[in-house]
Amino acid sequence: MVNDTYPCPHSYCQHELVNTVSDSSSVDLTTSKQKRNHYTLAMITSSFLTSAAVFALITLPAATQDTFIAAVYEHAVVLPNKTEVPVSRDDALRLMNRNIDILERVIKLAAEQGARIIVTPEDALYGWKFTRETVFPYLEDIPDPQVNWIPCQNPYRFGDTPVQARLSCLAKNNSIYVLANIGDKKPCSSRNSTCPSNGYYQYNTNVVYDTKGKLVARYHKYHLYSEPQFDVPEKPELVTFNTTFGRFGIFTCFDILFHDPAVTLVKDFHVDTILFPTAWMNVLPLLTAIEFHSAWAVGMRVNLLVANIHHVSQNMTGSGIYAPNSPKVYHYDMKTQLGRILLSEVDSHPRASPAYAPAVNWSAFATTVGRFPLQKNTFGGFVSRDEFNFTELFENVGNLTVCQKELCCHLSYRMLEKEENEVYVLGAFTGLHGRRRREYWQVCTMLKCRTTNLTTCGRPVETASTRFEMFSLSGTFGTEYVFPEVLLTEIHLSPGKFEVLKDGRLVNKNGTSGPILTVALFGRWYAKDSVYNSSGTSNSAVTYLLISTLLMTVAF
Ligand SMILES: *[C@@H]1O[C@H](CO)[C@@H](O)[C@H](O)[C@H]1NC(C)=O
Ligand SMILES: *[C@@H]1O[C@H](CO)[C@@H](O)[C@H](O)[C@H]1NC(C)=O
Ligand SMILES: *[C@@H]1O[C@H](CO)[C@@H](O)[C@H](O)[C@H]1NC(C)=O
Ligand SMILES: *[C@@H]1O[C@H](CO)[C@@H](O)[C@H](O)[C@H]1NC(C)=O
Ligand SMILES: *[C@@H]1O[C@H](CO)[C@@H](O)[C@H](O)[C@H]1NC(C)=O
Ligand SMILES: *[C@@H]1O[C@H](CO)[C@@H](O)[C@H](O)[C@H]1NC(C)=O
Ligand SMILES: *[C@@H]1O[C@H](CO)[C@@H](O)[C@H](O)[C@H]1NC(C)=O
Ligand SMILES: *[C@@H]1O[C@H](CO)[C@@H](O)[C@H](O)[C@H]1NC(C)=O
Ligand SMILES: *[C@@H]1O[C@H](CO)[C@@H](O)[C@H](O)[C@H]1NC(C)=O
Ligand SMILES: *[C@@H]1O[C@H](CO)[C@@H](O)[C@H](O)[C@H]1NC(C)=O
Ligand SMILES: *[C@@H]1O[C@H](CO)[C@@H](O)[C@H](O)[C@H]1NC(C)=O
Repeated sequence: MVNDTYPCPHSYCQHELVNTVSDSSSVDLTTSKQKRNHYTLAMITSSFLTSAAVFALITLPAATQDTFIAAVYEHAVVLPNKTEVPVSRDDALRLMNRNIDILERVIKLAAEQGARIIVTPEDALYGWKFTRETVFPYLEDIPDPQVNWIPCQNPYRFGDTPVQARLSCLAKNNSIYVLANIGDKKPCSSRNSTCPSNGYYQYNTNVVYDTKGKLVARYHKYHLYSEPQFDVPEKPELVTFNTTFGRFGIFTCFDILFHDPAVTLVKDFHVDTILFPTAWMNVLPLLTAIEFHSAWAVGMRVNLLVANIHHVSQNMTGSGIYAPNSPKVYHYDMKTQLGRILLSEVDSHPRASPAYAPAVNWSAFATTVGRFPLQKNTFGGFVSRDEFNFTELFENVGNLTVCQKELCCHLSYRMLEKEENEVYVLGAFTGLHGRRRREYWQVCTMLKCRTTNLTTCGRPVETASTRFEMFSLSGTFGTEYVFPEVLLTEIHLSPGKFEVLKDGRLVNKNGTSGPILTVALFGRWYAKDSVYNSSGTSNSAVTYLLISTLLMTVAF
C-alpha cells in the first residue's frame, strides 16, 4: 500500500467513479429514514424545536446568542473529465456551476431549517486531481476581505469573478454565512525568484460570506498534501471572524495535523468554533475522519464543523458537527453515492457553558499511579509504517503496561466476554510518523487485530463484536496535545459513552461499551516535529524561520 496514513487526497489516485448523483437524491436529508444514526435524528429534531427561538433572537441585532444552528454538507463532487491539457474557462465555469447548483439547494434548505452558517467541503467545486496548468481555468483572484466587498452587489469590481459573485449571492439571498473552498490566483513578478513560471501564485483557499453576501474571511491552505497545483503561502495565516454567535477560525484538511494555524487559533485567538472543509481519505485504525476529528474537538475543547467530500472509491466520507464534550451529529456512508446535510444546535461560546470540561493533565495518572507490571510478551508490529510495541490482552480482565522509549501506556480493562475469534492488543508508539517522518506522534492504543494472527495487529479492520464492561487507558505523554479516540464496529462513534478524566485517563462510562475497534490517545508533540523537512510549523521550525529571517535582515 503506497498510502502513508496521510488522509488528504493523493494526486496519483484515480477516479474510477464519475459521480452520477441525481438532483433530488443529492440533497438527501433522510430525517425520518435515518437508520444507522439515531443521534442524527435526535439532533435534527431538536434543531427544529429551537429554530423558532433562534429566529426570535435574530430580530435583536446587538444581542449575542447562547446557541446557534450549524450546518455542514458532505458533497459528492461532480468531477471534471480527465485531461492533460487545460479546459477553457467556460468549461471550467460550467463544471463549477453544476456543483454550485447542488450547493444552492442545500444552502437554501439549511437556511430554511434555521442554520446560521454552513460549511461546504474542500475541492467541492472541481475535485482534486490537477496540475498547475489544468487547475488554472478554475481560479479567480480573491481579494483581501479588508476591501469590504459584496461580490453579489458589485460582481465586476475585481475582474472576472463569477464564482465569487454566485457564492456571495447564495449567502445574501438566504441570509446565512457560507464557507466555500475555491482556488485563488495572485499575479507575481518574474523578477521575484519565488514567482512560479506562469506568473501566478495559486492557492487552495477558503472564503466566507456573511448574511449580506460580504466577503469576511479568506484563508490560504498551508499544509498541502500532494497538491502540485497549489503553492504554499509564505507563512501560516491566522484567519478569524466575529459574529453574534461566537468567534470563528478556519483551516483546511491536512492543516489539522499541525500546530499552525490550527492550535494557535484555539490557544491564542480563543475561537469558539472551527470551520473545517476537507477532502479526507479515511485511514484505519487511527485516522478515519469521524474518529480523528471528533477527538480533535475534545482534545482542543472547541466546536469543530467538518464538511468532507463524499467519494467512496477513495474512502472519502465522514462529516460531523463536534462539540468539546461530545459529537453532536456525524455521518459516515460507504454504501451510497449521495451527499448529505447535517444540522445541529451548538453552543456559541462553549467555554462559558457549565458542561465545559476542565483542562486535562494527560500524564498525571500515568506518571504517578498508573504503572502495572511490564509485560514480558511484547512484540513489534506496524500501524501503517509506524512500528509499535504491542502486548496482547490475553485474559478477559487485566492490567497491562507497554512502553516504547519514553512513552508508557497503561490499560485496565474488563471484557463483557472474550470472543474466541477476536484478539486485542495494547500498543505504544513514539517517534516521527510515516514515510515523511515530519510529525512527532505519541500514541497509546487498544485495538482489535484484523485476524487472530498477531502479525495483523494494526492493519485496518472494520468489524468487531467484543464489548468492554470497563476500560481505562492512560500514558506518560510529553505533550499537552492529546486527542482521545473511540471507534466502534462498522465505523461508529460512541457519543456519551466515554469520558476523559482530569488526570488523563480515557474511560468508558454509562455501562458496557459497544463493540470496539479502537480506543486511542493520539498525541501530537509539535515541538519535536522535524525542522528541515517540515514546511515550518513546529516551535523549533518557527524559531528556525525567525532566525533565518533575522539573519537575512542583518545581511541586507
Ligand atoms: C465528460 O465527457 C463526457 C463525454 O465526452 C461528457 O458527456 C460529459 O459531459 C463530460 N463531463 C464533464 C464534467 O465535463
Ligand atoms: C438570488 O441570487 C440570484 C443570483 O445568483 C438572483 O438572480 C436571484 O434573484 C436572487 N434571489 C433569489 C430569491 O433567489
Ligand atoms: C516576492 O513575492 C513574495 C510573495 O508575494 C513577497 O512577499 C516578496 O516580498 C517578493 N520579493 C521581492 C523581492 O519582490
Ligand atoms: C473579534 O473580537 C475581539 C474582541 O471581542 C477582537 O479582539 C478581535 O480582534 C475581533 N476579531 C476580528 C477578526 O474582528
Ligand atoms: C480504503 O480503505 C480500505 C480499508 O481500510 C483499504 O483497503 C483501501 O485500500 C482504501 N482505498 C483507498 C483508495 O485508499
Ligand atoms: C501533570 O501531572 C504530573 C504528575 O502529577 C506533574 O508532574 C506535571 O507537572 C503536571 N503537568 C502539568 C502541565 O500540570
Ligand atoms: C519496541 O519498539 C522498539 C522501537 O520500534 C523496538 O526497537 C523494540 O524491539 C520493540 N520491543 C519489542 C519487545 O518489541
Ligand atoms: C488492576 O489494578 C487495580 C488497581 O489499580 C486492581 O484493583 C485490580 O484488582 C487489578 N486487576 C487485575 C486483574 O489485576
Ligand atoms: C501469521 O501471518 C504471517 C504473515 O502473514 C505468516 O507468516 C504466519 O504463518 C501466520 N501464522 C499463523 C499461525 O497462521
Ligand atoms: C446511557 O446509555 C443508554 C443506553 O446505552 C442511553 O440510552 C443513555 O442516553 C445514555 N446516557 C447518557 C448520559 O449518555
Ligand atoms: C530530511 O530529508 C532528507 C532527504 O529526504 C533525509 O536524508 C534527512 O534525513 C531528513 N532529515 C530529517 C531530520 O528528517
